[in-house]
Amino acid sequence: MAEYEDVFRASVEDREGFWLRAAGALDWHRAPTRALDESNPPFYRWFPDGELNVAHNALDRHVEAGRGEQAALVYDSPVTDAKRTYTYARLRDEVATFAGVLRGLGVGRGDRVVVYMPMVPEAVVAMLACARLGAVHSVVFGGFAAKELAVRIDDAAPKVVVSASCGIEGSRVIAYKPLLDRAIELSAHKPERQVILQRPQAQAAMGDTDVDWADAVATASPADPVPVPSTDPLYILYTSGTTGKPKGVVRDGGGYATALAWSMPNVYDVSAGQTIFTASDVGWVVGHSYIVYAPLLAGATTVLYEGKPVGTPDAGQFWRVMAEYGVRSMFTAPTAFRALKKEDPNGEYARKYDLSSLKYLFLAGERLDPETYRWASALLEIPVIDHWWQTETGWPIVANPAGIELLPIKPGSPTRPLPGWDIQVLDTDGKPVPAGQDGAIVAKLPLPPGAFPTLWNDDERFVKSYMSAFEGYYLTGDGGRIDDDGYVFVMGRTDDVINVAGHRLSTGGMEEVLASHPDVAECAVIGVADQLKGQIPRGFVVLKAGVDASAEGYEDTLRAELVQMVRDQVGAVAALKDVAIVAALPKTRSGKILRKTMRGIADGTNEPVPSTIEGTDVLDTLRPVLVRATNASSERR
Ligand code: COA
Ligand code: AMP
Repeated sequence: MAEYEDVFRASVEDREGFWLRAAGALDWHRAPTRALDESNPPFYRWFPDGELNVAHNALDRHVEAGRGEQAALVYDSPVTDAKRTYTYARLRDEVATFAGVLRGLGVGRGDRVVVYMPMVPEAVVAMLACARLGAVHSVVFGGFAAKELAVRIDDAAPKVVVSASCGIEGSRVIAYKPLLDRAIELSAHKPERQVILQRPQAQAAMGDTDVDWADAVATASPADPVPVPSTDPLYILYTSGTTGKPKGVVRDGGGYATALAWSMPNVYDVSAGQTIFTASDVGWVVGHSYIVYAPLLAGATTVLYEGKPVGTPDAGQFWRVMAEYGVRSMFTAPTAFRALKKEDPNGEYARKYDLSSLKYLFLAGERLDPETYRWASALLEIPVIDHWWQTETGWPIVANPAGIELLPIKPGSPTRPLPGWDIQVLDTDGKPVPAGQDGAIVAKLPLPPGAFPTLWNDDERFVKSYMSAFEGYYLTGDGGRIDDDGYVFVMGRTDDVINVAGHRLSTGGMEEVLASHPDVAECAVIGVADQLKGQIPRGFVVLKAGVDASAEGYEDTLRAELVQMVRDQVGAVAALKDVAIVAALPKTRSGKILRKTMRGIADGTNEPVPSTIEGTDVLDTLRPVLVRATNASSERR
């Protein structure tokens, strides 16, 4: 059996051979003769002369190989009391028919389709139907508000939007269609059509350019897969950066499919015929890669779960799903396990179910705190595997490659770099730091297949945001260290991105909203530690001179307005619940707000205060407010 070190070395010593062999796991319309085009760094292209169709590889290929009657996707929705199994043959047929619908609406190769859907199988059908046509999907997470959706519609300029009448959050029905209508009102780009799935829980009012999903599929004829160059974009997935304008991460088809197909047996130890349950959302990269594409590319069964780990109907649903479908590997964010631990500290629900099929629990999306790691390990008595990656990378950067060799686990470390990832830690001058010392985590270029080739319509921002800090390296935005054994420790973001319940959010985006209030002169939003969600945002605003704050109830009203503005403009998912009104914010002499210093006070690390600070008395008055903000979030639940 190969060992991790051998596999990693092979990927370094013979990069071309390693990835061409990995690409051999797929069906190519035209097989690639070379792996990497390095002629235009930092714009690398994987399998430049290959042609394939990713949806064919995810569905038709398995039907042709005799897996037509095997479950491809199991939909399990305790919130609507529904369960449905799609065999590979059925899923292929539904995807082909919906591709026919999109083709009938004029969608072809390279056209964009925005998908704004809850966790229903039709979301997966819509994504794969785009892939079947060589069109580019851009899935927008349902928890984002109309304005965020509008920004994405303007950037991606879709021909069609696919949406649904509603999503379900616990026992609440959230109408999606009014949000979509509002987003289209706000956007400068107007899609030609909207295809709307009417769910029984809410009826959407239909307009002139809206098409009913059920009517459309009833009359459509199926479309065949369209082979496209490997380097064509498969999707755009927007993610939070340091400003309010999200980054459109582009994913190519051939490199991504190759990396995912490699990762399933080697990292997640899941092969054709086995079942993986990824509890995330199709709106995030984890959902794209490990609910949709990777399991299907591997011929495995994927569970699409609509609901939360706790709440409706109880905290036993994850365990029920695992027992019911014989799940081999489960993947979710640590926050989901913190929610389970809080609700069911002794694991009584877990003990009600037969979990003998479950071999691994994979956790990613935020730092896995040692306490949660220990709780899950003791409860399940299986390897609990932390691993680290990002929207930009599409698949894990650092993991414990369970399918190759299970390396000894060190709590707090997502373990070691996967093939293709040359991970280093640099100091501010770009020099490698000694083992065990903290710095910026970077990846030496070229990045492996699956990682983003650029940002949508914005090569310049791609270079500026990621490729310029250290020549020849990709700046991950995370800080951390590598120990003597080559284990990577990821300590957190070094920029203004925060991670709330595994959801990546921009504090800069929230600041833009707060700053737009007429009474606000300036503001800062920082992430503070939260026992359940890992981090939550807290806002601090300074009022404009002349604003009369003495009126009774003024401060409470303002705080409520600011919270509501963020909810309306960014979305409920931002989870900004508190804004403090303060006299001043700490700044450098050149006027830059010292957010890092504020974060350091709030999380108790007490970073050294920069010598460039303008007036230390500001910090003295702010300190108790910051400490209170963190304490409040920890006591909240
Ligand atoms: N559509 C509409 N609203 C949504 C939504 C969606 N798809 N997803 C979340 N929201 C809303 C929630 O209803 C909530 O609204 P509220 O403030 O009115 O209650 C708000 O956005 C925040 O949601 P969330 O962060 O999910 O918090 P929660 O308290 O509802 O649940 C957890 C907390 C930890 C149980 C949940 O986040 C979870 O299971 N996370 C782990 C899995 C995961 O999604 N990981 C993502 C990346 S791997
Ligand atoms: P996203 O792009 O939404 O997947 O978020 C990526 C960010 O989540 C990373 O840059 C990290 O800050 C954080 N993250 C993801 N996985 C881990 C992990 N295993 N440990 C620590 N942080 C993580």
